[in-house]
Amino acid sequence: MRKKKNRIVVGMFWGDEGKAKLVDFLTKYADVVVRYQGGANAGHSVEVDGRRFVLHQVPTGILHPDKICVLGAGMVIDLPKLVEELQSLEDSGIDWRNRVRISPRAHIVLPYHKVIESIMEEQEKIGTTKRGIGPAYRDRAGRIGLRVGDLLLGKNHIIKLLDRWLDIAGKLYERAFDAEFQSPSDVASVLESSADFLDRAIIDSTKFLDDTARNSGGVLAEGAQGTMLSLNWGTYPFVTSSETTAGGAAEGIGIDLRLFDEIIGIAKAFCTRVGNGPFPTEGDENLQKLLRGTGEHSYDEFGSTTGRPRRCGWLDGVVLEYSTRINGIDAIALTKLDILSKIRPLKVATKYNNFSAIPSTAEEMSIAEPIYEEFSGWDDDISKIREYDKLPDGAKEYISAVEKISKKPVKYIGVGPSRDDLIVKE
Ligand code: IMP
Repeated sequence: MRKKKNRIVVGMFWGDEGKAKLVDFLTKYADVVVRYQGGANAGHSVEVDGRRFVLHQVPTGILHPDKICVLGAGMVIDLPKLVEELQSLEDSGIDWRNRVRISPRAHIVLPYHKVIESIMEEQEKIGTTKRGIGPAYRDRAGRIGLRVGDLLLGKNHIIKLLDRWLDIAGKLYERAFDAEFQSPSDVASVLESSADFLDRAIIDSTKFLDDTARNSGGVLAEGAQGTMLSLNWGTYPFVTSSETTAGGAAEGIGIDLRLFDEIIGIAKAFCTRVGNGPFPTEGDENLQKLLRGTGEHSYDEFGSTTGRPRRCGWLDGVVLEYSTRINGIDAIALTKLDILSKIRPLKVATKYNNFSAIPSTAEEMSIAEPIYEEFSGWDDDISKIREYDKLPDGAKEYISAVEKISKKPVKYIGVGPSRDDLIVKE
């Protein structure tokens, strides 16, 4: 019998649900935290003792001194940015050496990918984070990508792969769009110095992860973005290019998927989206301002990677039900409930008038007409409350609505930005 649970934490909407805080809380019950997809497009922010850390590629588990953090094979890694992130952790007194492990199978985001992304964004506006994520995943699927493990085979090997990339993909962009790409030897030098900095962190951890998950437990798989940004299950093509759902975890880590004991879905108490694409419950100007905040607080709804204001709206129960099902959610963490204080009445979409389920195309999703149920809400400041029973009735009624729609228990309730602003509902 394993002593600790192996868990997956997954975003249930369009990302920015507050996963980092929950992962940070659950890390207490884990030994290893693993990122299974995405890359520097993510921005995970956690407040610890009044200090705010924004991590893009390193799992938030790094903020706990004794935990191992793994960047899984499902990721696409921006190496110079990873070096920057680790360096700044080191500067803040956080020792990452011997605690960070990077899969040699993870793909590398090249500067070439960012060039391609800016060309693509001019053609079709997805509103990406401009971190080269889509083009890097495209090369992975097209079998012309470079992987982290290639760095261990020396500079000549890297140059050979970059030359090959320029021959197969680069030339097309040079001809069609006058794209300009850095020379392979310049790119290889940067990659080589990143590899030197990372030193022994590049190591295959699949056996270690499988052994840990199987014997002691305590593997926490951390998803980035959210279900509605999943390449397969989101509002395609307005999605990221990886499998953000719980299904992506075993694939992106390389362990037996039956080893996971619990899947926790993170649902913000209202919905947000950054970038373009359908968002049925998007609010009017007034509601958006109330939910987004002014930008003066770290928890206001502005992107932690790009600083863009997030689009905000009511909780979408149709998406909540879909996401619960697609991910096989066991329990829900409802975050940022405190933001809804004094917004009265509150609304939750329970159906779409013109569709019986989530439509599969963005065109249809963009004309979905939500039907709302109203809730009376509450006026009290709930940010200091730590026991479920002490919440105002209006807040309990709202939480019950989430449980009724998802048919799953709300186990955690976020009432503020800090690590401790959390109610655990038994
Ligand atoms: P990409 O992942 O940069 O390719 O962007 C694709 C879409 O996903 C865009 O709409 C982005 O705004 C969105 N996106 C990517 N990462 C995040 C995230 O961490 N939070 C919220 N939205 C994201």
